[in-house]
Amino acid sequence: MVSYEIRSMTEQDIPQVAQIEKLVFPTPWSEVAFRSELNDNALAMYLVLTEETAPDTILGYCGVWKIFDEGHITNIAVTPEYQGKQLGKMLLHAIMTWAWANEMNHLTLEVRAGNTVAINLYKKTGFVETGIRPGYYSGNEDALIMWLRREKTALSEQSAHVEQSEQAT
Ligand SMILES: CC(C)(COP(=O)(O)OP(=O)(O)OC[C@H]1O[C@@H](n2cnc3c(N)ncnc32)[C@H](O)[C@@H]1OP(=O)(O)O)[C@@H](O)C(=O)NCCC(=O)NCCS
Repeated sequence: MVSYEIRSMTEQDIPQVAQIEKLVFPTPWSEVAFRSELNDNALAMYLVLTEETAPDTILGYCGVWKIFDEGHITNIAVTPEYQGKQLGKMLLHAIMTWAWANEMNHLTLEVRAGNTVAINLYKKTGFVETGIRPGYYSGNEDALIMWLRREKTALSEQSAHVEQSEQAT
């Protein structure tokens, strides 16, 4: 059994996070962009996931902006060799728990229409597709707009702890 920890992102994590961005996204955010998010964006919260025994090695991360009572998920990613091990689900649940504990009632995101894995993850978590932004992404790919309402989730009554441990086999 491997234990995982989810904690707030720090400046020290940024080089690894930016490296994962390059591996998984066609238009990755830069280190500068993440530094600006951590230092200058009071609306932003970023979490990273590590193995408990290797707290400095980033396996995944996600971020959200709090805009009134809405949380806008900016990015979520798991490093390629760790994908498919439920880590994306853990990160998404951690963001939801944080959002509900910080007076948000809805979460929203955009996802490439062809990103079946991510769309499956979001639907499984309770997100529903509410619209399309045609040609929103590079390559002229459409974006699906998805929303999750707090009252629709079993997690809505949970208390939130940004510093938390989760376990997976
Ligand atoms: C999308 C991403 C974060 C999902 O994280 P993950 O750790 O790979 O996914 P999980 O193992 O937690 O799986 C969660 C759900 O996603 C879906 N899923 C996972 N792998 C899948 C695959 N190969 N095919 C289809 N659906 C899949 C399933 O619904 C799964 O739930 P289940 O295991 O109960 O069936 C990850 O694959 C990733 O980083 N992708 C590249 C970056 C990206 O596209 N981010 C999303 C931007 S909007």
